Amino acid sequence: MNSNYSRIVGTGSYLPAKVLTNHDLERMVNTSDEWIYSRTGIRQRHIAADGESTSDLALHASRNAIAAAGITPRDLDLIVVATTTPDMVFPSTACILQSKLGIRNCPAFDVQAVCSGFIYGLATADQFMRSGRYRHALVVAAEIYSRILDWTDRSTCVLFGDGAGAVVLRRSDAPGILSSHLHADGSYARMLSVPGTVCGGKVSGRPLLQMDGGGVFRFAVRVLDEIVEETLAANQLRKTDINWLIPHQANIRIIHATAKKLGLSMEKVVVTVDRHANTSAASIPLALDEAVRDGRLRSGQHVLMEAVGGGFTWGAVLVKW
Ligand code: ACO
Repeated sequence: MNSNYSRIVGTGSYLPAKVLTNHDLERMVNTSDEWIYSRTGIRQRHIAADGESTSDLALHASRNAIAAAGITPRDLDLIVVATTTPDMVFPSTACILQSKLGIRNCPAFDVQAVCSGFIYGLATADQFMRSGRYRHALVVAAEIYSRILDWTDRSTCVLFGDGAGAVVLRRSDAPGILSSHLHADGSYARMLSVPGTVCGGKVSGRPLLQMDGGGVFRFAVRVLDEIVEETLAANQLRKTDINWLIPHQANIRIIHATAKKLGLSMEKVVVTVDRHANTSAASIPLALDEAVRDGRLRSGQHVLMEAVGGGFTWGAVLVKW
């Protein structure tokens, strides 16, 4: 039997200093705090400074996670960065982060699964750890969505924010990560996209976020229902065995729907969407770090993380804390 499991042994996060409230947005587009809060649960979001890059956000979060794990960057055997807003076309943000951490040689690559990026990155790193060849892996999710938003489009610009979260995985004889479940359906690519690219030295297409909000909402609720069932069945657990839900923080109404499906009271759901808005891949590790640092998660508890995002992609990771 495989005894190469991975455990999360350190978490970290970072939010840029600037806060943009719903009241600030009222002065930018035709919206209101009441509309935004009642539809989404969002009150404010953080916005990266002009000179700040995604790898900078990732670096802050990584340092916090590495310190919490009690290791140094030199101990890392693998770096996986989940981002939809990389520093540049290439090299990967993971390679840039590796250099900023002052290390070299370990494999480093990006994962692109939009809001499911952290789940995809964690699942990928866990598979590497199960090979038995790696002792420590860093999984980081970092996003600067403020740079791919149309700030004149009230239907999208109110929903997102910037930030980063990170975890350090350590190889272990016992889980740790119990199971991961990943899915994608590319036939929905147009429902949520940034349809631009670089071509011949110019931007081709419109590199700003567009979505069918209602369509995303309905799809998200359906597949999150399914992924919860799939994860419980794979681990032969009942709904009552789940101690904490750490969902992707897109919209409080989607979060309520998943909590209801699990029969979980909202006290058992980690919610940051009110203060962070939707930070895409970064939202789960940001919420996880908050719950770890305020002592909510206890050893032996079952923690379910789930997300859905552009692609569409969706997935879940179940952890025994
Ligand atoms: N302020 C005020 N009015 C607005 C705003 C705004 N910011 N945005 C849209 N409206 C208006 C619309 O123009 C529309 O007006 P109309 O009736 O005169 O045409 C009205 O509000 C209702 O618009 P709807 O889109 O029907 O509003 P809805 O209740 O569906 O809420 C929302 C929209 C919040 C986007 C919802 O569909 C949603 O949350 N969808 C999920 C999308 C999401 O979370 N995307 C994130 C990325 S994917 C992910 O992370 C899972």
